Amino acid sequence: MTEWWRDAVVYQVYPRSFADSDGDGIGDLPGITSRLPALAALGVDAVWLSPFYPSPQNDAGYDVSDYRDVEPIFGTLDDADTLIARAHELGLRVVVDIVPNHTSSEHRWFQAALAAAPGSRERSRYHFQDGAGEGGSVPPNNWRSVFGGPAWTRVREADGSPGQWYLHMFDATQPDLSWDSPDVHEEFATTLRFWLDRGADGFRIDVAHAMVKEPGLPDWDDDGPMGGTAEITDDRRPPMWDREEVHEIYREWRRIVDAYDGDRMLVAEAWVTPYSRLARYTRPDELHQAFNFDHCVAPWQAAAQREVLTTSVVGSAAVGAPATWVLSNHDIVRHASRFGFPPASRGLGGIGPSDPQPDAELGLRRARAATLLMLALPGSAYLYQGEELGLPEHTSLPGEVRQDPTWFRTHQAEIGRDGCRVPIPWAAGAPSYGFGPSGRTWLPQPEAYGPLARDRQDGVAGSTLEMYRAALRLRREYGLGRGDSLDWVPELCGEQSLGLRRGDVTVVVNFGGPDLTLPLGAQVLLTSGAMSGGGAVPSDTTVWLRGT
Ligand code: NOJ
Repeated sequence: MTEWWRDAVVYQVYPRSFADSDGDGIGDLPGITSRLPALAALGVDAVWLSPFYPSPQNDAGYDVSDYRDVEPIFGTLDDADTLIARAHELGLRVVVDIVPNHTSSEHRWFQAALAAAPGSRERSRYHFQDGAGEGGSVPPNNWRSVFGGPAWTRVREADGSPGQWYLHMFDATQPDLSWDSPDVHEEFATTLRFWLDRGADGFRIDVAHAMVKEPGLPDWDDDGPMGGTAEITDDRRPPMWDREEVHEIYREWRRIVDAYDGDRMLVAEAWVTPYSRLARYTRPDELHQAFNFDHCVAPWQAAAQREVLTTSVVGSAAVGAPATWVLSNHDIVRHASRFGFPPASRGLGGIGPSDPQPDAELGLRRARAATLLMLALPGSAYLYQGEELGLPEHTSLPGEVRQDPTWFRTHQAEIGRDGCRVPIPWAAGAPSYGFGPSGRTWLPQPEAYGPLARDRQDGVAGSTLEMYRAALRLRREYGLGRGDSLDWVPELCGEQSLGLRRGDVTVVVNFGGPDLTLPLGAQVLLTSGAMSGGGAVPSDTTVWLRGT
């Protein structure tokens, strides 16, 4: 078995914003297919496609109304087949997204549940409950939606009377499925096989820690992001996240993918802490990988980074799984902007025009340094489209163009995720910077994207694009993603620096301290930024060395 996923670099394509072939301002599958050679040339191993299934697009496709077809704005099933075939020709694997915690309210099942009576099989596929209080007018419990507001919505029964409530941990148009229903298990098994049969190499599982809820749905008084801000202990676990029973579902799914040849894989999106709890999703009979959000949220500081890298590598090795690394995705502020604030001062939530603005130059400098550190680590790394161009977050989107349901459900209190989802630039001089033929884009692009367009960086020494290409080439050449341990170099580790050995390569990171002198005889393979005079490593810079 090749187990390609153990050290794979996976590139996330967000279909709405990658490449638009028909000029409607929204990216599509033919657009992606036409640009796959650029990803092969970048040197990634796989692409992960965010959902492209039929959907009313109330949560940009994470509200699926049919799991086994393609949303017309993105193309057709034939287009999906063509994309997968072309990717395989180019040596790229294809990971598709699966959203098993909730469907769209337009899914045939939810429509049938609305039409059916309380207690029916149709309703048993979701969490329908009678309300509390007089006439059932109060939601069944106090849970809050991750997107803001209550996690319950009341329906009208077929006779027009106020009826039961249904649970939705996200938007009201995303009713949570009940995994107590055998129908749900069967439906998703069929869906997995459908895409495996079409050649998918794996699945990214949306909110993989959410599918099972504590029986009786007890109240939970902590309404911070993703289940609360309070410390989670074995005695105090949220009733809606990371329940023990969810692991049984993944054992079932593992058996399904293992029945296929070709080394297919499953990766969890699970915001679970501490790391030892996350690692349990990747035990040998469960999922192959889980996204490491502890790495993603870690501030740009030597001690914090050393701690998270060590915990992750040790924690994953304990279950025989590769660690994963991720700095950006479609839900969080792009790391070129996140790192443009003093370390630890800025979280992952959006940035709006009236918020403090990131220092773009500093942010990019640190983002490049963080990327070079990440790409030298053992395990699998996830890249988000546009980070190879050094794209910043769009921080000045006006309210009227925003589309993230978070913005609406929090009554504009939370900026939301639109700023990292803006269509990416391919050619500086073309309409929509080459995103599509018409100049239309579903979210406006910032002017900063022009100089960062791919054609401006292609072949330009020192550009972010060329740094990523070189890093991916050297990573492959030196097998940097292999193994499951970290070898710190004590004399290079200080309050503001880290050094680690990865086989023949030594990685040195300066997190903001004075220039670091390189070990004698070291040959510089790659740097994230210019070296200081005399060949020292300046602040916010990572260097890969040989021969130390
Ligand atoms: C996680 C996805 O990454 C995010 O974009 C989506 O809004 C939620 N899950 C709900 O599906």
